[in-house]
Amino acid sequence: MARTLEQADMDAIVSLCKRRGFIFPSSEIYGGLGSTWDYGPLGVELKRNVKDAWWQAVVHRRDDMAGLDAAILMHPQTWVASGHAETFADPLVECKECHQRFRPDHLGSDPTRCPSCGGSLTEPRQFNLMLKSFLGPVEDSAHQVYLRPETAQGIFVNFQNVIIATRRKLPFGIAQIGKAFRNEITPGNFTFRTREFEQMEIEFFVKPGTDEEWHQRWLKDRLQWYTNLGIRPDNLRIRQHAPDELAHYAKGCYDIDYRFPWGWAELEGIANRTDFDLRQHQEHSGQDLAYFDDTSQERYIPYVIEPSGGVDRATLAFLIDSYDEEQAPAADGKTEVRVVLHLHPRLAPVQVAVLPLSRNPRLVPKAREVYDLVRRHLVCQYDDAQSIGRRYRRQDEIGTPLAVTVDFQTIEQDNAVTIRDRDTMQQVRVPMDGLVDALIQRLQLSS
Ligand code: GAP
Repeated sequence: MARTLEQADMDAIVSLCKRRGFIFPSSEIYGGLGSTWDYGPLGVELKRNVKDAWWQAVVHRRDDMAGLDAAILMHPQTWVASGHAETFADPLVECKECHQRFRPDHLGSDPTRCPSCGGSLTEPRQFNLMLKSFLGPVEDSAHQVYLRPETAQGIFVNFQNVIIATRRKLPFGIAQIGKAFRNEITPGNFTFRTREFEQMEIEFFVKPGTDEEWHQRWLKDRLQWYTNLGIRPDNLRIRQHAPDELAHYAKGCYDIDYRFPWGWAELEGIANRTDFDLRQHQEHSGQDLAYFDDTSQERYIPYVIEPSGGVDRATLAFLIDSYDEEQAPAADGKTEVRVVLHLHPRLAPVQVAVLPLSRNPRLVPKAREVYDLVRRHLVCQYDDAQSIGRRYRRQDEIGTPLAVTVDFQTIEQDNAVTIRDRDTMQQVRVPMDGLVDALIQRLQLSS
């Protein structure tokens, strides 16, 4: 199975992502825009599969969750109430000559000089990380809005709407996937830290006093989600935040960290946000956001457990964890390096490749028939360019778990095809009439 990767392997992954159409630098024809990325034809499938797997696990397979898709633009008071207008900031120094800004802890040997032009620096000042824009034609402070820095607030401001519409009882949660924006000062490491990214967030509302127990339950569930989808447990760890690291709203927080090639770093945070957000919104909006518990006949503001993950970070971790370069037998009897993504079949952008042994006109119609049959059930790709060995390698490189090969025996003798397994490279012969069932069974999509 895949080895643990080093920083040097990242170049190979970034290059594979570009070459095979997973991830491209954004607006590349203009020289790109720093740390922004576009998901190509395979990347968009992989990312959708990550989101679908999350949605299925946290919404469809649970009785205590509902979904939401709130707007990116929100009333500016939201960010005053949430504390982001005041506290979502990094201390930065500014160069008096070139006006670039730097974090004081990133200045290197001479902390008084600009690392870019050598100019003198201002004293540190707080710079808010929220991206600003204006609604309507007038660009003044009355029309200023923010691109949301987290999706969470869309959930808090809809808490009462969802409770009333769904008649839910606590404990219950709301899940949302969507874009968030932060004017990060030090973006980098490919898609790990960017200024535009997608979050998958849950706000799980519980009775105060039961919050610690739910915090532990969510931590366990979320860790399990990553391992169920193939991340090796050795590459995951849980790290509890020290009191001085906690966000302004949190009573406690655990990170699920992944062992990226540059070191351990956060994949997802699971915080106990207490009743901070609902209480703040109640105060600032004047609306009653308390919950009436008709079993205990009590009114209270619920506490909130928040598992908050990044779609882009999870997608990157799945790519890195599944990447491997293996020695494999070559056509000339020697060995060659086989690049393979051991992606979980639920995540693989293509589930089945249909490959005629060659472009021989007797094989192609049968292979197209197989392709038409399989694509009705599974995400499928047809490929007849170049040798069969090269086509297997191409599919290995994009993580396609199974390949179906149509050969002369298929059309002349047995109406059966060969299924080749990406990970073991073993091949089995299967009759056409049982092919779809055999593929579905091998893909184990229900896990
Ligand atoms: N609502 C809580 C919250 O936003 P966070 O730890 O700041 O907490 C949650 O962000 C997750 O969002 C992170 O664990 C990470 O996966 C993702 N994330 C945060 N900032 C990001 C960035 N600049 N680029 C990519 N993903 C980011």
